[in-house]
Amino acid sequence: MTQNVFPVPSILQSAAHVDAQAYERLYRQSIDDPEGFWHEQAKILDWAKPFTQVKNTRYSPEDVTIGWFADGQLSASYNCLDRHAAARGNETAILWEGDTPGETKRITWSELHSEVSRLANVLKKLGVKKGDFVSVYLPVIHQSIAAMLACARIGAIHSVVFSGFSSEALAGRIEDCRSRVLITADEGKRGGKFVPLKKNADAALEKLSFVEHVLVVRRTGRDVPLKEGRDCWYDEALAEVPDVCDPLAVGAEDPLFVLYTSGSTGKPKGMLHTTGGYLVHAAASFKAMFDYRPGDVHFCTADVGWVTAHTYLIYGPLANGATIVLFEGVPTWPDTSRWWQIVEQYKVNIFYTAPTAIRSLMREGDGPVRKHDLSSLKILGSVGEPINPEAWLWYHEVVGGGRCPIVDTYWQTETGAVLLCPLPGAMALKPGSAARPFFGVRPALLGSDGTTVEGEGSGSLCFADSWPGQARTILGDHERFLETYFSAYPGFYFTGDGARRDADGYYWITGRLDDVINVSGHRLGTVEVEAALASHPSVAEAAVVGFPHVIKGQGIFAFVTLKEGVAESAELQRELIQVVRTRIGPIATPDRIEWTPQLPKNRSGKILRRILTRIAAGDFENHGDTTTVADPTVVAEIVRRMQAQV
Ligand code: WT7
Repeated sequence: MTQNVFPVPSILQSAAHVDAQAYERLYRQSIDDPEGFWHEQAKILDWAKPFTQVKNTRYSPEDVTIGWFADGQLSASYNCLDRHAAARGNETAILWEGDTPGETKRITWSELHSEVSRLANVLKKLGVKKGDFVSVYLPVIHQSIAAMLACARIGAIHSVVFSGFSSEALAGRIEDCRSRVLITADEGKRGGKFVPLKKNADAALEKLSFVEHVLVVRRTGRDVPLKEGRDCWYDEALAEVPDVCDPLAVGAEDPLFVLYTSGSTGKPKGMLHTTGGYLVHAAASFKAMFDYRPGDVHFCTADVGWVTAHTYLIYGPLANGATIVLFEGVPTWPDTSRWWQIVEQYKVNIFYTAPTAIRSLMREGDGPVRKHDLSSLKILGSVGEPINPEAWLWYHEVVGGGRCPIVDTYWQTETGAVLLCPLPGAMALKPGSAARPFFGVRPALLGSDGTTVEGEGSGSLCFADSWPGQARTILGDHERFLETYFSAYPGFYFTGDGARRDADGYYWITGRLDDVINVSGHRLGTVEVEAALASHPSVAEAAVVGFPHVIKGQGIFAFVTLKEGVAESAELQRELIQVVRTRIGPIATPDRIEWTPQLPKNRSGKILRRILTRIAAGDFENHGDTTTVADPTVVAEIVRRMQAQV
């Protein structure tokens, strides 16, 4: 295969924050002298009390310690707000574009500052104190950003729950962090459809009597019931308090937020991020990887419920004083040129999205893009899953007019900010590769025998040392944190991904190695979906695997065994889909459900997903080593049924 390589555009060669020489020099320094390097980087923030220690990290099997800037103090709210409001209060912080075209709002730094201060005062009045958790279940509206910054302002820890999650998923996430306050809205609106957020919240809270207060944002104006003594309108509460609230400086290692993500076992993990290291890493990487310049308009399409938005829609950009576009809707409504219309309208300079969206928009052809003037674009970004070269080339040529570098950023909810990515002024691009490590990041590929692979080769993607944005623990379960990330390869952080390193030292992510699938850039644990299916009274057992999907990257394939005497039917398929949507949310909807009288298992009863994954991918012959299957006729029967359908 001939390989496309795209050199650094000439206009960036000398003008970028980091050019090729600077990358090599700074990367070396960041590894040889991490203390000195991060000490310098930390100047991107204002510290209320300067730190004297930079790095206190160990990945030894007996002792995993992760601490950065530990004796420093700062306020994330101050850094993302006050310092910009003071310098240029009348300039734009947020350009909000509602779901309905034409419904827009421009919010200045001063306005955001005053709203955040009021909300912080409301939270205080409700008894929220430093270290308390506050759950946020909101659409992509500016109040979700206000909620995060208001929590940070008083040292409270926010837990944003994606508004596409069901009431049961919300309940689980509130219960886990035991927040006594929830901020939600009457409804959300996406793609012309209404999402009953308050109704979901009410259902979630039925069994959670410890939740004392619910603030309700009026988004659509739908008449929703307020529960006496518990609920109140957001705007009314804000109107009653002053718009001055001093930001509380907290310790760098005090928590900023928790964000839940799926793992290979059933229960979502609450990844706990702290303040100083996270914000330094978010702010410094945002500036470097998007070559951000004051005045640039940044549009990250992620929903506020995901880490992408936490770091590169909100904290990273706002710490840099960037103007952000906040878009409530979807790229395909009212038509498939919506994003491009927004880029033109707001003269967007930096555009950051996920491969799945690129693939689906690419199917619409070039027309919807070419209708719009996208000449303001300078840098394009990609995140969430490997971007296939066809999508990369289309994104580069049609969206970026062949002139904008594509920054393919590899990271995770756990990593807080980027670990692998090209810096646009420093590195040639290879479509499909997340290029090279960010400063201070030490990737390692580990073989199955536990030794590191040097030079060209493949292995489990690990990291040999900590970085500032790293999650410190799983809320309430530090053992699981150590077990999940530090037990497979003692002395290393294990990502769960496989990767290949090429001759130029570029990394290519090859996909998850655990029972996690990546559906449209969203991580789902197969076990979670299985548990939802198994909760249906007709289901005896279910096994869920990922399979290649042209748009989503991976789709969800469910093999389901029904209880004795239950008939297979289309109606039952619909019921199972509904059960998953109710327990988790629409993103977990199975793409295919296949009935099977039994599931292939080994002699100790473990489901052999490896075989099911091959079958789901349409490979009916190569089942690898089947000697472990207790009953080979089970595999033959599944294959027979699947073949009968084609
Ligand atoms: C998993 C993390 C990082 C924010 C969005 C997802 C996959 C992420 C890339 C990329 C290849 C990628 C990995 C990773 N992933 N970015 N640029 N190239 N794969 O965060 O939900 O925590 O998922 O997404 O498999 O482990 P997440």
